[in-house]
Amino acid sequence: MNFFDVINNHRSIRRYKSDPVPDDVLHEILEAGVRASSSGNMQTYSIIVTRDAALRQQLYEPHMEQSMVLDAPVLLTFCADFHRMRRWLHLSDAPDNFDNFMSFMIAAIDATLVSENVALAAEAKGLGICYMGSTLANCDQIGRILKLPQNVVPVVGFSLGYPDEDPARRDRLPMSGLVHQETYQDYCDDAIREIYHERETKGWNRYMSYPELRQRIEGSGVENLAQIYTVLKYTKDSHREFAQTVLNYLQDQDFMNNE
Ligand SMILES: Cc1cc2nc3c(=O)[nH]c(=O)nc-3n(C[C@H](O)[C@H](O)[C@H](O)COP(=O)(O)O)c2cc1C
Repeated sequence: MNFFDVINNHRSIRRYKSDPVPDDVLHEILEAGVRASSSGNMQTYSIIVTRDAALRQQLYEPHMEQSMVLDAPVLLTFCADFHRMRRWLHLSDAPDNFDNFMSFMIAAIDATLVSENVALAAEAKGLGICYMGSTLANCDQIGRILKLPQNVVPVVGFSLGYPDEDPARRDRLPMSGLVHQETYQDYCDDAIREIYHERETKGWNRYMSYPELRQRIEGSGVENLAQIYTVLKYTKDSHREFAQTVLNYLQDQDFMNNE
């Protein structure tokens, strides 16, 4: 497939065939993945490949019981990782400046860039992926299951396997709402309404097409897509709770020495 066809055909895949991902295919996409840019070429990430059914069963709950955790043959967890680098610094008598939040951000960016390279390489090979936000939201539980040492934090992860569905491409906001020329051009209210106009209908219809979600939406009295996002999906309580989980885990993992 042409590179731009791969990018333009991206759809998150949540249903998978049971066929395993051959080792050589997995190796090829991971090798393509690590060609991603990284800060100072330090490559401060680790990729955990989980195929084992018992481990995936353990990950099912912290991944918020998403069926793809059990159904996809592979889970990939991309971790911010300064553990390896700090060990090397120590062995090389080099000062260690990487126990702080800036280091976490650098490593989290490295991990995320690699993940998207791997995702695109996988899609070019006919595989499907779906990211799981639970990777960061429940990073502490997932970190324990994956036996992560200090200075390693799960940041992004996705299911991987051969698609057993062929979903339609999801819409995107118009480019005029995403790209600014030269400096940030702030929006007037009408521009905001225009940017989200198509999304409001398509997103609403999509959520309403799932009987379980439809029932929740109708039962909660929400009236539009924006309200679905913040009354039902990303609530203040859940976001604050997940934020605290991440901050506590960063502290435990020795990434918060900012004084
Ligand atoms: C960081 C991140 C976390 C995500 N978490 C989930 C998730 O937990 N469950 C899920 O079904 N999809 C998840 N997604 C997939 C998005 O819902 C999806 O990318 C978006 O709706 C656009 O659809 P598309 O990828 O098919 O174009 C996540 C995507 C990203 C980038």
